[in-house]
Amino acid sequence: MRAVVYDRYGPPEVLRIKEVERPVPGDDEILIRIHSAAVTRADCATREANRRSGLFAMLLSRLVFGIRRPKQRILGSEFAGQVETPSKTVTEFGVGDHVFGSSGFRFGAHAEFVALPRSARIAHMPIGMSFEEAASVSDGGLNALWCLRQAGLRAGQAILVYGASGAIGTAGVQLAKQFGADVTAVCSTRNLDLVTSLGADQVIDYTQEDFTRNGETYDVIFDAVGKHSFSRCRGSLKSGGIYLATDGFRNVVLTLWTSRFGDKKVIFRIPPRYTKQDVIFLKELIEMGRYRAVVDRSYPLDEVVEASRYVETEHKRGNVVLTVDRAG
Ligand SMILES: NC(=O)c1ccc[n+]([C@@H]2O[C@H](COP(=O)([O-])OP(=O)(O)OC[C@H]3O[C@@H](n4cnc5c(N)ncnc54)[C@H](OP(=O)(O)O)[C@@H]3O)[C@@H](O)[C@H]2O)c1
Repeated sequence: MRAVVYDRYGPPEVLRIKEVERPVPGDDEILIRIHSAAVTRADCATREANRRSGLFAMLLSRLVFGIRRPKQRILGSEFAGQVETPSKTVTEFGVGDHVFGSSGFRFGAHAEFVALPRSARIAHMPIGMSFEEAASVSDGGLNALWCLRQAGLRAGQAILVYGASGAIGTAGVQLAKQFGADVTAVCSTRNLDLVTSLGADQVIDYTQEDFTRNGETYDVIFDAVGKHSFSRCRGSLKSGGIYLATDGFRNVVLTLWTSRFGDKKVIFRIPPRYTKQDVIFLKELIEMGRYRAVVDRSYPLDEVVEASRYVETEHKRGNVVLTVDRAG
């Protein structure tokens, strides 16, 4: 099968297309023919061994994914495709079923086929959804769901989503509305319409206004793009408020510290734990018309280097996908 492989950590140029062995599913596994797969910030960070996030993150990344070189040569976690070979032990999915989901840190989705255990985070695709859209659901959707649940977000609470136009941000705005919160979204001028269309109650253009200076306070501040900080935000948190982080080792330390001291908390728990039920939850929201995946650009598999360069600009809107199979 065709796959995108990498043999050493580094920039997008370490990625190349190669013919590799098609995975052989075990009795408990499902073989999926991939039609579309997302290129995420997590793919890019893993490919370069988290070098931008500091020495500790880099060492941890190499410990997990391979000290000298990557153990798993194929990246890609979020995908949509069709069941090629169902598991021999469960009947949940049949040949040809349209499925989507996330392989998590097993990766392997930037390829024509991936084999996943039956317990994996896979669900039938929402009715009427394209492979491209379905591949764009899980990255931001699962991450935002995990974060908002960690914060215990409740109906009537006020949340500010910073970086509301990214993969996690676009999901965060929509899911926070589902939780019944009053949502203030922060994005750049070019993304105001997009974020408003996702249901934000108030939108702030960060190029025009600094939300930390407008006197408003929130129960939760969700830094969905990892570019703000607890120290700059804390004055905008209500007493007992929570700063939800998506990046940065310092936030792991602050999570521990603020769990014992002070009335405002930082929450950044890694690794996130997503479940199959979470994927089904997103599918059901989509079918009820309450959630949509935002697709920015789609590239053919051969243009994975260009796609990765674009993701690394940190300016994508929602998600970037690779079309793996032309039928997708
Ligand atoms: N995606 C994942 O699975 C995952 C998992 C774990 C952690 N993370 C971390 O979570 C963070 C977000 O990931 P993501 O994939 O959701 O991000 P993303 O899609 O790459 O975010 C890009 C978006 O953020 C906006 N943006 C850029 N700079 C901004 C700023 N200074 N203030 C506000 N908005 C800004 C961009 O629009 P403008 O430039 O026009 O503002 C763009 O729409 C990253 O730090 C990532 O490493 C991601």
